[in-house]
This record gives sequence, structure tokens and C-alpha cells, in this order.
Amino acid sequence: MRAPPAESAPEVGPRWRIEWHDELASTSDLARLRGEAGEPEGVVVIAARQSHGRGRLGRAWHSPAGNLYLSILLRPQRPASELGSLALVVGLALLEALEQSSASKLDLALKWPNDLLLGGAKLAGILLEHETVGSSAPYIVLGCGVNLEHHPELPSYPATSLRAHGIRTDRRTVTIAFLGSFERYYAQWLAVGFSPLRLEWLRRAWRHREELQLMNGSNQVRGVFSEVDEDGALILQTELGLRRFLAGEIVSVPLAGQS
Ligand code: BTN
Repeated sequence: MRAPPAESAPEVGPRWRIEWHDELASTSDLARLRGEAGEPEGVVVIAARQSHGRGRLGRAWHSPAGNLYLSILLRPQRPASELGSLALVVGLALLEALEQSSASKLDLALKWPNDLLLGGAKLAGILLEHETVGSSAPYIVLGCGVNLEHHPELPSYPATSLRAHGIRTDRRTVTIAFLGSFERYYAQWLAVGFSPLRLEWLRRAWRHREELQLMNGSNQVRGVFSEVDEDGALILQTELGLRRFLAGEIVSVPLAGQS
């Protein structure tokens, strides 16, 4: 049974059906359950806080009340090989939504693959999960966490919040703006894929054309960030030539003399 809405649902386009909860273990868990139950795409699960929010690479996602935790159930009719690029599209939509929601100019950047940075620190993360059957996915769940009021102190990675930059906004405003932007981008992606959005994404990319170090599983690869391709893969110019990565995490470039 669905929990009663904790606050009135934001008015959004007809593609989206919002479920609002005070607390969940994880909005993405509930969106997956809706997917397993056969619900059509467009379910948006939002919680005021999460007890077991999760991030990429098996990490926990700090989820106190005050931030935005949102997961969307989608059933895109595109090949499974293209699905990774949808997380990049979500990043673009989130960046646009936050620019619209703030009166002041924000120093936002997209960090490949799925992070949104503010002033170089992590403001939001995106988690794309899907079940694949054959070459297609029956459903995917896109989870977004945005630090509106709070951010964790991470030993490995600086994080921030809008509040830390003196910007006050609320879940409702950001949700409406985000779902509006994402609706447009998603329709375009469904029709023609990521190709026409690639340059727009790169224009807002963190450290494009700079030297980077990528953690790919237990491997470290160093190279210059050349581009992202039409599947959203990262192309690095390394000493051994161009290399393509579908997953990984960009870490800072080591000091000279370190490997
Ligand atoms: C990352 O590691 O950067 C991705 C973080 C994704 C967090 C969001 S919060 C809403 C949704 N529910 C979860 O449990 N995780 C995602």
C-alpha cells in the first residue's frame, strides 16, 4: 500500500506520476519494486529522507531530511548499449534545473559519468540501475540525490550543498524544474539517442581536454579527457593511444613522480 503524500505533489507534466514518502530505505528500491510489478514508466518516487540510500560503487548515500532523493522508473525502447548515456542526460537536466531554480549564477559542472559539481565539489549524484534481458532492458531506475541543505564530509572527495553556497531552495521547486527539463531531454534521447546532446554535455564537462586519472576497477589509467562518444563512454588520450571507458571514476591527477 502506498504511503499517503507527506506534502502536496508538485504539478508536473503528464509523463510523471509522483509518489511522495516521508521516509524510505531507498527511493530506488521502491522504484524497482514498481518496475517488477509491471507499472508503466513515469513513476517518480521521492522521499524526505532515506535510511539506506545508496550510491555508485556500493557506497552509502548520506540521506538526512532537507535534501532531494528522487528515483524515476523508465522503460526506454533503446538498445541496452545506449542506456549509460541516459545518466549523462539526467546530469544535463539537473544542471539546467538548478540554474533555473537559483537567482544567482552557479559554477556547475558535469563530472563524468554521473556527478554534478558546484565549485568543484560534489553537489549531486546519479545512480542508473537496470535489469537486462537479452539486448534490451525491461526497465531502468534512475536515482538522483541532490544536496540542498546538507552534505557529508567525505575523506576521499569534497562535497558541498546549495546551502553551503548561500542558496536556499526547496525540493518542490527543484523537482518541478528537473522533471520539466528531463522530460524534454528524455524525449529527444528516445527519438535520436545521445548524439545531439553530446556537445552540450561536453560544454559543461569538468576537466574536458585536461589530464586526468581514471580508476577503472583496480586499474588506474592516466590520459587527457578527449571526449564522450554517442554512448556516453569516456575517451581518453593515453600514452598508448585513444582508450574508451564505459565505467570508472575520475580521480585527481597525481603529483609528478607518483604513478
Ligand atoms: C552517487 O554515488 O553519486 C549516486 C548517488 C545516488 C543517490 C540517489 S538518492 C535517490 C536514489 N536512492 C538511492 O538509494 N540512491 C539514489
